[in-house]
Amino acid sequence: MKKTSLFLLLMGMLSAAQADDLSAWKLPPVPVPKDNPLNPDKEKLGHQLLFDNRLSKNDSMNCASCHLPETGGGGPTPRAFGHGGELGRWAPSWVNSAYSTSLFWDGRADSLEQQTGAMPGHMGPITAPGEMGGDIDAIATRLNGIPGYKKAFEKAFGEGVTPQNIAKAIASYERTLIASSSPFQRYVSGDRKAISASAKRGFDIFQGKGRCTLCHTPPLMTDNGFHNIGVPQVGPMKEDLGRFEVTKDPADKGKFKTPSLYNSASFAFFMHDGAFSSLHEVIDHYNKGGNPGEANQDPLITRLDLSEKDKADLIAFLNTLTDERLNRVHQPALP
Ligand code: HEC
Ligand code: HEC
Repeated sequence: MKKTSLFLLLMGMLSAAQADDLSAWKLPPVPVPKDNPLNPDKEKLGHQLLFDNRLSKNDSMNCASCHLPETGGGGPTPRAFGHGGELGRWAPSWVNSAYSTSLFWDGRADSLEQQTGAMPGHMGPITAPGEMGGDIDAIATRLNGIPGYKKAFEKAFGEGVTPQNIAKAIASYERTLIASSSPFQRYVSGDRKAISASAKRGFDIFQGKGRCTLCHTPPLMTDNGFHNIGVPQVGPMKEDLGRFEVTKDPADKGKFKTPSLYNSASFAFFMHDGAFSSLHEVIDHYNKGGNPGEANQDPLITRLDLSEKDKADLIAFLNTLTDERLNRVHQPALP
């Protein structure tokens, strides 16, 4: 073989390998439970329910009160406020939560349907006294008395409003909140110009020197696992034991779910207790090796020695994960 053709062959193999690397980050199809197939009627209903105060005690709040679309679906305050006053945790984003194998910072819910708190036997925002404080049976009865809702539920589910159908409609809409049009998703789907040179360097740092992909793994940017990364305890709780509350395994003390970083550049706060309020603070936390004084901190968290340029590139990369469409989710007309 001639030298030039060998060179071309090697270059071809190299770029094929790179292309493979990138496609590993393409978001897969959204998993949908067998007993709740998606359809546009359910999605439309779910969108309405997300913004409907009638799902709460005294018609006082809705899901989007705590998951503000403009701030990437995450909470506008460091800890969420409900009927019980200030809660212990920051409201995480619902963007890409459809991929989560478990929901909440401690993973205590198994599905988006369960998470809502509308399914019998499961506590969640609609029914939790400290959050929306609703009485789910009374809510279903009331919505059934609203002709627009009754008709729409019958069309979507073949029956009227039930607590289960409320949960299923909300979950169906959440399954559409996927950051598939983010610049990064366009980049890994072949549009090489979708992200800047600085963001490309940031992606290299994310996967290399920054050690981020040890937990924020492809394709979802999360291993769907739980880690203690030494986030400072702030807010009304003395100590949040996180995953330990679910498993009672001492090794799980202070572990929280690895978040998907999509739309995080729009968040007003970060981490389970809203301890940080900028990506700079987040990266400085990782850069100094988290909190080495925290006995249960994951050994994967170590000092990074990132330069100011590295940090700026990393932030440019994180910015490419934002799908602007999802920051513009609006309140629809309600029946
Ligand atoms: C009072 C504020 C508040 C309201 C209202 C609220 N949430 Fe939340 N939401 C939170 C907080 C705080 C958490 C995290 C709680 C935890 O981890 O223990 C959360 C967690 C979630 C999660 C889990 C995300 C993940 O990655 O694990 C989803 C999904 C969600 N909420 C959707 C909803 C929906 C749907 C509604 C309306 C039915 C709603 N929320 C209403 C504050 C709120
Ligand atoms: C050992 C696993 C691990 C590593 C390594 C890691 N993360 Fe995280 N990341 C997590 C966990 C777990 C959380 C949530 C922790 C909490 O709330 O207490 C988190 C939270 C975040 C958040 C906040 C998102 C939100 O929704 O609040 C950002 C941003 C972030 N990580 C970016 C990075 C970057 C950038 C790197 C590399 C410099 C990195 N992470 C390395 C596990 C990890």
